[in-house]
Amino acid sequence: MMRSPAGVKRACGAALDLLRACCVFANSSQILSRETTLSFSLNRRAFGLGASAAALAACAPRGASENVVNVYSARHYDADRMLYAAFEEATGVAVRVLPANAEQLLERLRAEGDATEADLVVAADAGNLWRIKDAGLLRNVVTPALEAGVPQRLRDPDGAYWGFTKRARVIIYRKDAVQPAQVASYDDLANPRFRGQIVARSSTNVYQLSTLASRIERLGAENARAWAAGVRANFARDPQGSDTEQIKAVAAGEAQATLCNHYYYFRLMRSEDPADRDIVARTGIVFPDQAGAGAHVNISGAGVTAHAKRRDNAVRLLEYLVSDEAQTMLAPLNVEFPIRPDIAPAPDLAAIGAFKEEDIPLDALGRHQAEAARIFEEVGWR
Ligand SMILES: [Fe+2]
Repeated sequence: MMRSPAGVKRACGAALDLLRACCVFANSSQILSRETTLSFSLNRRAFGLGASAAALAACAPRGASENVVNVYSARHYDADRMLYAAFEEATGVAVRVLPANAEQLLERLRAEGDATEADLVVAADAGNLWRIKDAGLLRNVVTPALEAGVPQRLRDPDGAYWGFTKRARVIIYRKDAVQPAQVASYDDLANPRFRGQIVARSSTNVYQLSTLASRIERLGAENARAWAAGVRANFARDPQGSDTEQIKAVAAGEAQATLCNHYYYFRLMRSEDPADRDIVARTGIVFPDQAGAGAHVNISGAGVTAHAKRRDNAVRLLEYLVSDEAQTMLAPLNVEFPIRPDIAPAPDLAAIGAFKEEDIPLDALGRHQAEAARIFEEVGWR
C-alpha cells in the first residue's frame, strides 16, 4: 500500500519525534563513570547517525524501512559497531542502535511496553539481563545455531538471553605488599590480615551483586554474609568509584587488593599512557579459586525483546553474534573472552592460559540478586 503524502508526513514527524525523544534519552545519561562517559559520547555520535538513519528509513519508500533490526545496547564498544556493520554487509539487514546503560534500557522497555521498537537488547552482566527477563520484557528463543554456539552454562536456561562474550571477576593486588598466593581465593579478601587494605566499588553495582549471588548459589547465604562482612571489615575507605578506580587506588598504595572485572586491567595493559603502564607495573592479577570452584565468570549477552516487531531479524543478529565469523572477528579486538571455547581470545588474554571457571547456572546470578543486595546492606557494604 502506498502512503499518502499526509501519511508520509505523519511518519516523518513520528520519526523525528523518536529522534528527539532518543536524543533527550541519550542526554539524560548522567550517572556514568568517566570511562563509560567517554564511550557514551562516542556512541552519542554513533546514535546520532543511527537515529538519522531511522528518520530517513521512515521517510523512504515502502520496503526500505522493513529490513532493519533495532538494538537497545548497554555495550558501547567500537568492536560491537564493527560486528553490526559486518552483519549489515552479510545480510542486508540494517542495524540501528540505541545506546544507554542497562537500568535506562530496562526502564525504557518497561515504559514502552508492547509499543517498543526494540527488537534485541544487548547488555553486560547476566544480572542485568535477568532483570529485563524478570520484568517480562524478553522472549525465549532457542535455535540450533544458538545452542551450538553458546555453552549451556553461559545462557539463560529458558533461552531469554545468550552470552556472546565472557568476563571474569579477578583480584588485583599490589606487588610490593602482597604475594599472589595470599590472594589466591576470594576468601582471602575477608582475611583479617588485610584489615584496612581492601578497596571496593559500591554494592549497588551489578558486578558486585553477581559476585555475591554466585557465592550464595555455591555456598549459601550464611557463608556469603560472613564473607561480605569480612571484606567490609577490611575496607580502606567507603566504597566509591569504578572498577578502574579501585585498581588505581591499589597501585597508588591506598590499599593492597581489590576485585574487578578482568578487562579493566587488560585495558590498562593495552594503554599507551605511561601512567597506566605504571599502574600495571605495580600490580598483579589473580584469577581466583583455581584450586577450588574457579573464578566467577559472567557474560555480555543479548536477548530478543518480548514485543519485537522484527523478531526474525533479531534472531538472525543474535545468531550472528555467536557465529564463527563474528566470534573470530570479535576476539582480537575485544578485551573479553570469546563465548566459544573453540575460538582463541586476543593474544594478551591467551597468554594467561586456560583458567578454571566457576560452574553454576547463569540465572542463579539473577535469582539471588535481591538476597545479595540485602546481605550487602546488612553488613554495611554500601
Ligand atoms: Fe564493565
